[in-house]
Amino acid sequence: MAQDLTLLGLESSCDDTAAAVVRRDATGRGTILSSVVLGQDDLHAAFGGVVPEIAARAHAEKIDIAVERALAQADLSLAACDAIAVTAGPGLIGGVLAAVMCAKGLSAATGLPLIGVNHLAGHALTPRLTDGVAYPYLMLLVSGGHCQFLHVAGPDSYTRLGGTIDDAPGEAFDKVARLLGLPQPGGPAVEACAAEATGTIRLPRPLLDRPGCDMSFSGLKTAVLRKRDAIVAEHGGLPRALRADLCHGFQTAVADVLAEKTRRAIAATPGITALAVAGGVAANRTLRTALEGVAAPLPFIAPPLRLCTDNAAMIAWAGAERFASGHRDDLTLAARPRWPLDRVSAPMLGSGKRGAKA
Ligand code: KG4
Ligand code: ZN
Repeated sequence: MAQDLTLLGLESSCDDTAAAVVRRDATGRGTILSSVVLGQDDLHAAFGGVVPEIAARAHAEKIDIAVERALAQADLSLAACDAIAVTAGPGLIGGVLAAVMCAKGLSAATGLPLIGVNHLAGHALTPRLTDGVAYPYLMLLVSGGHCQFLHVAGPDSYTRLGGTIDDAPGEAFDKVARLLGLPQPGGPAVEACAAEATGTIRLPRPLLDRPGCDMSFSGLKTAVLRKRDAIVAEHGGLPRALRADLCHGFQTAVADVLAEKTRRAIAATPGITALAVAGGVAANRTLRTALEGVAAPLPFIAPPLRLCTDNAAMIAWAGAERFASGHRDDLTLAARPRWPLDRVSAPMLGSGKRGAKA
């Protein structure tokens, strides 16, 4: 018999220490009662990327604070929860361990069931929390560390149709920003610069000539580097107008590749109810418009940005979905640096800046 479920969720797999309380009602509708995300940008800024040891230490220091705040904001005690969900991978192992150990401690102390959640499943199931999307649907994950198409047929049923063989798109945006003297995070900076463009600089569309849904973004970044050097050689510097045109050309190329591969992924998955996106790059307006175009007449679901980027509400929700379908873990739950969602398809060769995700 279906019942209301209230789950505490914990997340610490990359550079956000997060805790949240989410309720799933008997009809399967979700409500976020609280969501706390403690970022670490200031700790990593000087290093130009996430430093695993620094991240792990900060997670260990802050995870209990995040849990206390999440419970206080939800105005609930731990005893009012039905289970504790925690990201058990994939991710930076020192970080993953921080929340797993905390969740195990809470579970041992309270007797509440423990549910291990795959971080990517958290992203992939978010459209059910925000929009009640029915299975099966197609999910495009695009962030600084992830890039893959997933056919989502249930809380534990995923088929990967393709992904990046090298950089994730957000990683490419960040590197291009660095090449062009724009601030980090690169995505919003490149998008703002491209908005000033009066023309464009044509760049290649990697892997569009090959069948399937795999993608590559590392060559595109090198193409930007070459164009930049040619402009500097010709003009003695990088004029603002040409920098804008270069950002425009790069952003258009990324959106074109993702849109065409999405069109193929939709064609390969008849019967889906919607196209959904998650990940920080899903904030990009040009990309959203392109994806909306290829999704039609299917609904295009883009959760609010705070739920597209790393958070614990998605982990609590994915835990609730697994719990409702009968899944339980215990204190032997292992933290896993790698954990492919799709257990059948071969693992991806590439990895993002934050390490191989699947
Ligand atoms: O999902 P996210 O917050 O973190 C993980 O990577 O897990 O994604 C961050 C990435 C960064 O690489 C950032 O540059 C990119 O998302 N991003 C964008 C935009 N906003 C953030 N990329 C393109 N356009 C944007 N507007
Ligand atoms: Zn993520």
